[in-house]
Amino acid sequence: MEVPFARPLFTEADGAAVAEAVMSGWVSQGPRVRAFEEAFAARVGAKEAVATTNCTTALQLALYVAGVGPGDEVVIPSLSFIATANAVWQNGATPVFADIDPDTYNLDPQSAERAISDRTKAIMPVHQIGLPADMDEFQRIASKHGLLLVEDAACAVGATYKGRPIGSLNSPACFSLHPRKVITTGEGGMITTNDPELAARMRKLRQHAMDLSDLARHNASDIVFEAYPERGWNMRMTDMQAALGLCQLEALDEILAERARQAARYTAAIAELPYLEPPFEPEYAVRTWQSYAVRVDPRSPVNRTELMRRLHRDGVATRRGIMAIHHEPAYADPKALLPHTDAAAREVLLLPLFPGLGDDAQDHVIERLAAHLVAAKAA
Ligand SMILES: Cc1ncc(COP(=O)(O)O)c(C=O)c1O
Repeated sequence: MEVPFARPLFTEADGAAVAEAVMSGWVSQGPRVRAFEEAFAARVGAKEAVATTNCTTALQLALYVAGVGPGDEVVIPSLSFIATANAVWQNGATPVFADIDPDTYNLDPQSAERAISDRTKAIMPVHQIGLPADMDEFQRIASKHGLLLVEDAACAVGATYKGRPIGSLNSPACFSLHPRKVITTGEGGMITTNDPELAARMRKLRQHAMDLSDLARHNASDIVFEAYPERGWNMRMTDMQAALGLCQLEALDEILAERARQAARYTAAIAELPYLEPPFEPEYAVRTWQSYAVRVDPRSPVNRTELMRRLHRDGVATRRGIMAIHHEPAYADPKALLPHTDAAAREVLLLPLFPGLGDDAQDHVIERLAAHLVAAKAA
């Protein structure tokens, strides 16, 4: 049996909605993009949502309007996808890595506070694989040091922190709509904020800072000439993507419920297996189960990488857990002391989990895990 790692959930209605956008003739930055922004903001309890080309550009833009630029530092976790650091670099600023909480794999507030220098402008916690970071603590540290917060919420659409949806807290939150995420528009990003002025500025900056939107020009009763009061980028989402996003958003609750069901099945099975630690479940948060991360005990005779190799031979696709950015040549920092990050990067793997993964396929994954680990324990 071949078990893929992840697969987006698309229906015929999704395809029809995209086709309708094409046939409407308005394929970029049109009414569907606006409708998607409104629906997204409503879903996560934010006043505003601003669509972009992807989460990396969303993070870049949110940091830019927070005033992050050359000479500034932004504290981030090293244990994250490299896009978290690249978004800082795209603003000419320097990412400074702090360690994680070994249970949640999220940025540790104390470690982040220790990484603050007189050049620090912002802290960017990541809601890693859809588990919210400890935002009250980050808000406290940010106000104590006069810093801004931007949330990397790439994997966190539908997650809640102390009962409040991610996206509704008082910092800009940036979401990814990449196919590996809970819902997808192929590529795509979204920034939520409760500040309408900030949202208006971001909508201009994503379109070369043009002071007139396509929608406003279209609806104008006379000719209008646009102006460019500052410099900006092209971070425009298409209406085909937005049409798909509107459909995906409608399926979000169903997708989250199915992901949670599969995660509970893994957790029950893993409780019976040697050398595996299921994901930590904090009481303060509801996560998205963007991925199911298991930790292989360093005392296991079959280590994380060897277990992945054996599962691969069994037809089960897995991925390593979250990368450590400071281990990569692009951001190599041999002096960084991040022991919890180093351990998580070495010991964690992600198991297949997606709507459409049948129980029989999931049982096969569990059975293969058991075969390798129970045999190793007996040997
Ligand atoms: C934590 C994190 N931040 C940022 C990104 C970048 O998202 P995108 O691919 O939409 O640019 C990802 C994507 O995997 C991610 O996992």
